[in-house]
Order: sequence, then C-alpha cells, then structure tokens
Amino acid sequence: MSYKHKDLLGTRELSRDEILFFLDSAKEFKNLNNQSIKKSDNLRGKTVINAFFENSTRTRISFETAAKRLGADAINFSAAQSSTKKGETLIDTIRNMEAMKTDIFVVRHECSGSAEFIAKNTDASIVNGGDGLNEHPTQALLDLFTIRENKGKFEGLNVAIIGDIEHSRVARSNIWAMHKLGINVRLFAPPMMMPHRVEVFECEVAKTMEEALDGVDVIMMLRIQLERQGGAVAFPSGREYSKFFGLNKNRVKLANPNPLIFHPGPINRGVEINSDVADGEHSFVLNQVENGVAVRMAVLDILNKNRG
Ligand code: CP
Repeated sequence: MSYKHKDLLGTRELSRDEILFFLDSAKEFKNLNNQSIKKSDNLRGKTVINAFFENSTRTRISFETAAKRLGADAINFSAAQSSTKKGETLIDTIRNMEAMKTDIFVVRHECSGSAEFIAKNTDASIVNGGDGLNEHPTQALLDLFTIRENKGKFEGLNVAIIGDIEHSRVARSNIWAMHKLGINVRLFAPPMMMPHRVEVFECEVAKTMEEALDGVDVIMMLRIQLERQGGAVAFPSGREYSKFFGLNKNRVKLANPNPLIFHPGPINRGVEINSDVADGEHSFVLNQVENGVAVRMAVLDILNKNRG
C-alpha cells in the first residue's frame, strides 16, 4: 500500500488502499501524540504554509500543530492581512510564497476547484484544506480514523449524514471515501439543503429524521452553512430546524447501540444538535479533533516523502 502523488486534493480520486495507507500511517502518529514528547524530525528543514483564504479553527490549528510536531517550519498566511486585499490574484499569492522555497501548502478557499487549480500551477505539494462545496479530504480521513478506532471495521456499517448536505464539502469527501470502504451512507436534509441531483451520490435518502436514524452506527450532523447560502432563508427559525432536523437524546435511541455521534464543527448548539448530545456519552466530536492532528501529520509526512 502506498500513495504516490504530489498533492492530496480529495477523496474522490483515492483508492481503498490509499485511504487505508493514510489511516495506518496516522495510527503511528497517534501513538507519537500520546507520548509526553510529541516530536519527530521527519519534516525538519521543510516549510509548510497554511494558506487559509477562509476562516478555520480546527483545520488550521491542527495542520500547524501537525507540521510543528514533524519538525517543519509552519507559517500561517491570513488572507485578511495579505495583499489579496490589494487585488493580488490567488495564483500570484501562492507563487510568491512558493518563491520563498515553500515545500507544502495547505489551502482553504471558498471556490470549488481552487486547490486543484493551484496544484496544477505550482511545484509545491498542495493539501486541500477545504475548497468551496467540493472536498475536505482530511476531515473525511479523520472521521474514518475515528470510526475504525471505535468500531474496528468499515464494511457493513451504516452512517447517517444529516443537515446541510448541499453546501457541505465534509459530506462529499465522506460519501466518496465511505463508498470505497463498504460503508452504507444514508442522507437526510431539509429540501433546500439536499443536493438537487442527490442520486449521483448513490446513497439512501431518508424522508424523516426517524427513518434517517433507524439502525445506524454513526450519526454525522452537519452545520447549516449560511455563508454558502447566498442570503436565502432555508428555514424559518433555529427552533423549527431543531424540531424537524435536530439531534436530541430521544432521537439518538433510534440508532444502533453505542452510536458514534460526529460533528465536524463549529457546532450550532440547540439547532442541528442539542448540547446534552454534543457533550453526551456518545459524542466523539473531540475525538475527531484529536485524531485530526495525527491524520494531518500522516498526510504531511507522506506528501513530503513523495517529494524525494
Ligand atoms: N471541521 C472544520 O473544517 O473546522 P474548521 O472550519 O474550524 O477548520
């Protein structure tokens, strides 16, 4: 098993073996992260720039942590304080930072396809940290890592993805990857947040919250992504959304015993998920975050090795 590419742009193009290769490598880095000295020198002397043109807490900080634990020089670019505000293009911005001998860029941008566009126009390695509605591959990998760690397998598991699927790159990356691992994926969303051509995802589509949750092993709740809805009001109020599409303690009982409850964050408490569930015994939200560092260490390490 190996991964032989310059970039990691999405899970859609990954084979089953490539996904497992990332997860197996991440397991080794999780062991390292559990030591008191969480440090390797695999990326010593290398430069990693987090080029985030959109806001982030988890992805940016965990990539920075991952790069530093691997011994790299980790630099954070913030679009708000950059010359993009003076009209500099995306590719000029990246090429100027590449001229400073940057080895790997982690890129987050609001435009779908931006990571691929940059990858084709630079010799540096590109990790997609989230491009528009398209993909967020390291989120899917950390979700899969957390599933395998707690369920011990993928084949035959049932996962419900619930919420704003239309605007979710997390949902897309998970759907592509989960299919390859033999996981059954069920989708449920308000009509305005369900993709128009949902059949392309080849998932079950539930009609009610009860149907969505029946017999699932993993419940993945999604945030309503108002920033991608162009000002349209997709539901009357948070309270109404919670009533029909929110996860509460009673609804969790519809799932299989000991379900894993996931949320990529940030959470809208009391809207898509109640606090007693987000903080409850079945919540793996912070496990996802913890595993994100190990997964991102694996991704940076593998891409760095591919650079020779
Ligand atoms: N899950 C995730 O992408 O969170 P951030 O937007 O905080 O990075």
